[in-house]
Amino acid sequence: MKTIIQNGTIVTATDIYKADLKIEQGAITAISNHFIPEKDDHVIDASGQYILPGGIDVHTHLAWPFQSTGTADDFVTGTQAAAAGGITSIINFTNPKKGQTLLDNLQEWKKKGESSLIDYGFHSIISEYTDHVLEELPILAEREGVTSIKLFMAYKGELMVNDREMYKIMKKAGEVGIITSIHAENGDLIDELVEESLAKGNTDPIFHAYTRPTITESEATGRALAIAEAANAHVYIVHVSCADALEKVERAKKRGVQAFAETCPHYLVLDESYLALPDFEGGKYVCSPPLREKWNQDHLWRGISSGLVSTIGSDHCPFRFEGQKTLGRDNFAKIPNGCPGIEDMFSILYHYGVQEGRISLQKFVEVMSTGPAKLFGLYPKKGSISVGFDADLVLFNPKIRREITKVKQYQNLDYNLYEGTVVQGAITRVLSRGEEIVRDGIVVGQKGRGQYLFRKKVANIEKTVTS
Ligand code: URP
Ligand code: ZN
Ligand code: ZN
Repeated sequence: MKTIIQNGTIVTATDIYKADLKIEQGAITAISNHFIPEKDDHVIDASGQYILPGGIDVHTHLAWPFQSTGTADDFVTGTQAAAAGGITSIINFTNPKKGQTLLDNLQEWKKKGESSLIDYGFHSIISEYTDHVLEELPILAEREGVTSIKLFMAYKGELMVNDREMYKIMKKAGEVGIITSIHAENGDLIDELVEESLAKGNTDPIFHAYTRPTITESEATGRALAIAEAANAHVYIVHVSCADALEKVERAKKRGVQAFAETCPHYLVLDESYLALPDFEGGKYVCSPPLREKWNQDHLWRGISSGLVSTIGSDHCPFRFEGQKTLGRDNFAKIPNGCPGIEDMFSILYHYGVQEGRISLQKFVEVMSTGPAKLFGLYPKKGSISVGFDADLVLFNPKIRREITKVKQYQNLDYNLYEGTVVQGAITRVLSRGEEIVRDGIVVGQKGRGQYLFRKKVANIEKTVTS
């Protein structure tokens, strides 16, 4: 059976035009001014709607053990939320156990991923340097299609690696076509600032921001970029939150480093003042790097427009308020770090970006789909609307206004970061490889239908959109 989508407006990273789409066996097989459907065809009328490529969220922490607890969404609830929010592919982080090989760890994560509703891949986190890690990198890339790793410069004792280890790992990664993602914050300095703050009795959530000032992020970003340059490696700075860190990326790019930046919806629209909300409400907004002073947001938006920021990732790292965030009621350092975002990223970026005139609709597609697909080895199968691509599509009605609320969310949470925000536009249908997984805004796809994403090496990145 064929699916025909009629009368919609197709949007890619470069074009906006009216056309019909033909979908067969999960892929787009033709695009034309008008198709006359045959008797058995499944016809979808997209009049008045945009047809966008499905979002690709390359920064998720589903089913993720962290800081003495674990994230509240697993691969079922997390990918239902993703689908409702227009995301059709994710790349989730693994989290290795001490002494475990990367390959053994990956098998455990692939098993967890089997319940996913949308297509899924993994970035391997390396939190412990050993010689076997270097030997495993080419196997990860070639046999497993895992062509990205992640290193942390903070969370000492749990995830942090040192500069020397970073250099050795990045060098090998560069040689074998793996891109290295970096959490760039100066972990040692932060630990000292936290200790000082607690010693003075400063325990409220706002002190999470004060003990992780922008210099701790920009210094680490500059250092990561210098190490990548020395190692001749592709480097992807995750969750850039402030102007100073972004400037470091800009300078590195200018001197020829293969450097790429991601930011997240919460850094674009929320600010440090949320951490000071009374009655421990601020705890909901604790993530790292922390929310920043508002003036940074203009710099991040301009970075998206100019191409300095290549992708938007949700950094979906959800913890329930009751019982998880409240672990740190008397001590901000015990609040699990992370904010939800997978379900609302698409809407928030459209509303504050496109609707409010900060970015074009094509740029929206570029950072939500085409850019991540190119950087993380999924292009030209995912990331655009063209013949031969997977039919991962979002139908979006820009005329509908709706309120974001925890009452209607799929995220397994007792709060929503954007509660009460009224946004322009609504996702009406989502197709994943041609199959409707969201209809009239309701998730109808089955858990376990997602496929594992075997990804290409970084050397194959086309130097268009993301460079
Ligand atoms: O606060 C955050 N971002 N938590 C998730 C772990 C990470 O740093 O990405
Ligand atoms: Zn991080
Ligand atoms: Zn993260």
